[in-house]
Amino acid sequence: MTTEQKDIQKILPQHVAVVMDGNGRWAKKRFLPRTAGHKAGVKSTRRLVELCSIKGIGALTLFAFSSENWSRPDQEVSSLMSLFLSTLNSELNKLHEQGVRIRFIGDRTRFSEKLQASITAAEKKTEANSKLKLNIAANYGGRWDIVNAARILSRKLVNGDITENQITEQALTRQLCLVDLPEPDLFIRTGGEQRISNFLLWQIAYTELFFTDTLWPEFNDAAFDEALDWYATRQRRFGKTGDQVKGTPGRQTG
Ligand code: FPP
Repeated sequence: MTTEQKDIQKILPQHVAVVMDGNGRWAKKRFLPRTAGHKAGVKSTRRLVELCSIKGIGALTLFAFSSENWSRPDQEVSSLMSLFLSTLNSELNKLHEQGVRIRFIGDRTRFSEKLQASITAAEKKTEANSKLKLNIAANYGGRWDIVNAARILSRKLVNGDITENQITEQALTRQLCLVDLPEPDLFIRTGGEQRISNFLLWQIAYTELFFTDTLWPEFNDAAFDEALDWYATRQRRFGKTGDQVKGTPGRQTG
């Protein structure tokens, strides 16, 4: 049976969110600078994007740089920025040909003008693509996302456009990043830590959480399959019939 045939039989997530952790430790184990770990991590990222496309997973959200990552040594931050810029520029055409829509979430105003211009160009070039919605969280924080949404609603309230009763979960959700996508069904964190680290806080309220010791540069096809197999097993625990959970995995409350 081919990989594709096996996947068809599995309940696949529609949206996967990933904290790509462990680049630094991967490098340290090899007596390499941390930046070498990030470079190696790009290869895993590239492959994961490809795998999601092959498997028909519609959305992938990657935590590339958190609001807290600015406090890393200047040299590491600037090397990460260069890596984002060079990867974006070198991969854009291929991703576009593969039907990938790229979007960045987070406060991009702190990035260099050059990086901001590349981000905007990549989003514009790929905006009509629909095979895989790739979201890159950069200078993103889940709390920032929620505060932003709260500010938008409070402005509407002050302007008299809405009443207090109209501040609901749905109204707040509509102001968050990724509002047009199903909430993540599966969250993966590599590198052994079992934390959310201010990633998509609101959006992962009902997401299945998968933690693995695998370091991000070593996250390969087999590691992703392990997470997907685990996810498929989790879905069978809801006590509902297969027909009931099919199509909306990961979104049953409780
Ligand atoms: C966490 O590992 C990783 C990061 C902060 C950067 C993630 C970036 C990439 C994988 C580059 C590819 C991404 C794109 C979008 C081009 P860490 O440095 O915290 O590792 P450690 O916990 O072992 O120190």
